[in-house]
Amino acid sequence: MTLMKFQNIMSNEIAKRVFVTRPPEPPANILIGDPLKSVYIGTTKMFKVPFTWTYANLTNPHIAIVGITGSGKSYFVKTFLVRANYVWGTSAVIVDWAGEYKAWVKQSGGTIVSLGKGAYINIMDLSGMKPLDRVKQIMNSFELLTDISDFPEQKRLTEEAIEQAYTNMGFNVSEKPLAGKEAPTLKDVITLFQEKLQDGTYEYPAELENAIYRLRQFAREGEDYFARKSTIDLGQLASSGLVDIDLSGLPDERFRALAALFILQTLKEKMRFEGWSESKGLKTIVVLDEAWKVASDNRSDAITIVREGRKYQFGLIVASQNPTDINEAIFSNVGTTFILRIKFEKFINYIQGSLNFSDFIRSEITKFGVGQAAVEMAFQTAIRFPETFILEKIYGEEPLSVYNIELNGVLTQAEIAANIISREYQFETNEFKNILIEYKFSAEDINAIIGEFDQKSRNVGIIDLLVLFRQFGMNSNDMVRFLKGLGIDDSLISRIITRVGKNG
Ligand SMILES: Nc1ncnc2c1ncn2[C@@H]1O[C@H](COP(=O)(O)OP(=O)(O)O)[C@@H](O)[C@H]1O
Ligand SMILES: [Mg+2]
Repeated sequence: MTLMKFQNIMSNEIAKRVFVTRPPEPPANILIGDPLKSVYIGTTKMFKVPFTWTYANLTNPHIAIVGITGSGKSYFVKTFLVRANYVWGTSAVIVDWAGEYKAWVKQSGGTIVSLGKGAYINIMDLSGMKPLDRVKQIMNSFELLTDISDFPEQKRLTEEAIEQAYTNMGFNVSEKPLAGKEAPTLKDVITLFQEKLQDGTYEYPAELENAIYRLRQFAREGEDYFARKSTIDLGQLASSGLVDIDLSGLPDERFRALAALFILQTLKEKMRFEGWSESKGLKTIVVLDEAWKVASDNRSDAITIVREGRKYQFGLIVASQNPTDINEAIFSNVGTTFILRIKFEKFINYIQGSLNFSDFIRSEITKFGVGQAAVEMAFQTAIRFPETFILEKIYGEEPLSVYNIELNGVLTQAEIAANIISREYQFETNEFKNILIEYKFSAEDINAIIGEFDQKSRNVGIIDLLVLFRQFGMNSNDMVRFLKGLGIDDSLISRIITRVGKNG
């Protein structure tokens, strides 16, 4: 406890000193890149410098994005992918957990692969890998997704049977396969188990039965998404422009995680084969949005990819609303972290613990509006400027609708002149809707309120707004809570409430 307090004071002190003796943002030559070799993101808060992202000076091209729901993570990803494609011709594979990128990918002319709705992946496909390496990866995925590690004998049996299935199909397990040679499936592995069970020579039939049972979960008729001949070529998809792998049609989280793990494993291998060419920027970006299981586990290739660094020109973007779902190894190894709005103490503690930004940045993060972000970059060489800075806004491809609440009508001339009280409050559409949801308005009421607001060019006085709220059932306690939430002081609140009472 004492130690924590001590550190707290220290970082406050340091933050202050840095602020005085050094500029609070990296110098312009670091922030502004060649537009033909970097991706425009937005303008910095302090000096309004246009920030363009490149990984030229960074430890690697990988990016982590954190922020509460609605803070703008997916919006950033879309903006980034479009521009990276424009600048470098970068292809992207989106591992789309909830199917939320589908509409956008479709609209952008990309490819959509819907697993669980007609598209299949054979997790035994080799993509040029030695069968033994693939066996290890498959076992890795099973360990991550099932309880097989608790049963060493079943684990041994499964590993052995998968290897045997490759041998039976004519593969040499320790050699790279000939191109085009068809891989066995999990169904072949189950058949091998059943034969062993039937010939009766194995001494622990119960172990065998349990191993069969576990594998069958992924090979059952109708749920054999990963136990059939593949209908897609992932290696090819990795260089096919914008590709959305929609996992929302799979029955549960385990299936989605298995797909995501397989995609990462395969793409990692492809990158290793292809090596790298210095000439071009990023070849492929893989996006993991809200894929918590895959981003949090030590055994996931998300971590291998981040650790292996920059040499493959293969970028990984990991986005999550819950930073503790992103493995610490990812945070401490990615070249860039975008921190959007975060509310919960424990989440901020976790990130601040991994990234060590100042308490000034910390307090800003809790106040961010939609699309505002702190950016933390890990440079390759020792530097003499702050590695974390604040972006006024991520400038994206979609227009932002801002709702403006004005206080002018309730302020006295003296208050306006003194300029100590905020005269207006701005909210982005979704942010405003989220606030309305907090006050238990129904979906219809919210749309009606937004509709009224839209008619006034998204500009209303505080009194009119509260009168409108009252028409939709808000009581005066909630009005006070709403005004407090805006940060308005008590005397002004009572003045406003009185005015609302007199109105109608
Ligand atoms: N930088 C931004 N500029 C304009 N609109 C934004 C920005 N970031 C997010 N939005 C809008 O806010 C909403 C929520 O953003 P989204 O990216 O879906 O959040 P998240 O993925 O963090 O839950 C969307 O309607 C999106 O269009
Ligand atoms: Mg999102």
